[in-house]
Amino acid sequence: MQRPVLAANWKMHHGPTDAREFLRTFLQYYPRHGDRQVLFFPSAISLPAVVEGLRDRSDIRVGVQNIHWEDKGAFTGEISAPMARDAGAHLALVGHSERRHVFGETDDETARKVAACGRAHLVPVLCVGETLAEREAGETEAVVLRQLRTGFSLVDAAQVAHAIVAYEPVWAIGTGRTATPADASAVHRAIREELKQLAPERHRAIPILYGGSVNRGNAASLLAATEVDGLLVGGASLDAEGWSAIVRA
Ligand code: 13P
Repeated sequence: MQRPVLAANWKMHHGPTDAREFLRTFLQYYPRHGDRQVLFFPSAISLPAVVEGLRDRSDIRVGVQNIHWEDKGAFTGEISAPMARDAGAHLALVGHSERRHVFGETDDETARKVAACGRAHLVPVLCVGETLAEREAGETEAVVLRQLRTGFSLVDAAQVAHAIVAYEPVWAIGTGRTATPADASAVHRAIREELKQLAPERHRAIPILYGGSVNRGNAASLLAATEVDGLLVGGASLDAEGWSAIVRA
């Protein structure tokens, strides 16, 4: 297995002051570990503080939680992929379930955002996942694979090979309900099969992360599940000590 990816999505938490304070504590508890990749996705307004706080830690990468699909223009309130790159981001979440379900982002928009990442040399972290209704209707695989295919529809195999995929069942996000390691493995296997089609030679290089109510208690068992290459963590990444315990484990 490649080295596991442990990603913190802070969502709309931690402004610049809190972010600096977080990193002071976190870095004390987390010396360099070459065998894992730690990522932070702060809010865009805290990105410069996080990039600065990690100046001496090239082992940790930073990304943004969302970008616009255009490189520039009259889009008040938005940030573009080239701007995020210029500010020190190396990655961008695309199609997070909160973007899809709270802000109405469509599969086609995620595809355009993945393409924008490619132009700006940002690694897209394409998030996919089914709602509870879709799961109960037996549509999990169909939904996830549709989101995956459409999300990567505007880029070539080489660009797919540089991406990260995150499976986050919507019913598990922020609810305290987690997929079992077996549930996660089953969906990750289906994602891997699809990635074989999309990036035939290089699909093994694409990490598939699990996200949804990951915490200190369940992180190790989820990470040990077949085809789970890492974790994308919301609530449990907000506390510096707790998050450092998860990434050290
Ligand atoms: P929680 O870990 O808070 O469930 O959030 C998961 C998530 O959405 C990470 O992107």
